[in-house]
Amino acid sequence: MLIVANWKAYVEDLARAKKLVALGKKLARADKVSVVLAPPAPLLSVLSIGRKTGVAFAAQDISATAGGAYTGEGTAQAFAAAGATYALVGHSERRAAGDTDAVVAEKLARALAQDLVPVLCVGEKERDGEGRYLARIREEIVTALEPLELRERARVIIAYEPLWAIGKDASAAISANDLAEMTLYIRKVLAELLSGRNAGRTTVLYGGAVEPENIRGLAADAGVDGFLIGHASADPAVFAAFAKNLAA
Ligand code: 13P
Repeated sequence: MLIVANWKAYVEDLARAKKLVALGKKLARADKVSVVLAPPAPLLSVLSIGRKTGVAFAAQDISATAGGAYTGEGTAQAFAAAGATYALVGHSERRAAGDTDAVVAEKLARALAQDLVPVLCVGEKERDGEGRYLARIREEIVTALEPLELRERARVIIAYEPLWAIGKDASAAISANDLAEMTLYIRKVLAELLSGRNAGRTTVLYGGAVEPENIRGLAADAGVDGFLIGHASADPAVFAAFAKNLAA
């Protein structure tokens, strides 16, 4: 199982960041668990994890530009130099700040060009009765992956994060049944974009109100390969409980 911890802007000091890194290493000692931590960029650049810990770093976002006269931008290459090996791309909070599907596609290409494993975030704002939300998910995946070569498409991790669940507590998370349905749908869309043996191998994550109390139920019944966790990954006391609950 892959656990990606998106600290967002919840974590602002080095002491807490270091505590979370230590907890990430502990979590990665659980059977079949790998951990990716996504700290705010300035903290990422001063943290280290050491080798063979089962823990890696991700950028929370990368620039759509390559290097140049772009004040304030953090390029994929700069993140790679700081120790990131993954990059979140198209998170709904970045889309809300202006990232269109076209910008997301550019960022995906930048990440791949620097050998960062992209975690492409997709998700609907709300669910309607007619299934329009499914069309939106398809559109987000297709516009991002279609411009890529087949072997690049196979490197992308998909994180399904419905906006209506993000930031809420466990009771607001998607049900395991609905998630299982969505996972199947995402894999069907991927099968159209990937060739033979790669279809079906893509890592699919779920994010949105994942907390220590609901992770096991979602992990058991929903067909996902792991989770993208926000608020519950940024509080050391809560993050520690994931290790306990997954080991239990
Ligand atoms: P929460 O876990 O806080 O709902 O956030 C999910 C998310 O946006 C992770 O990227």
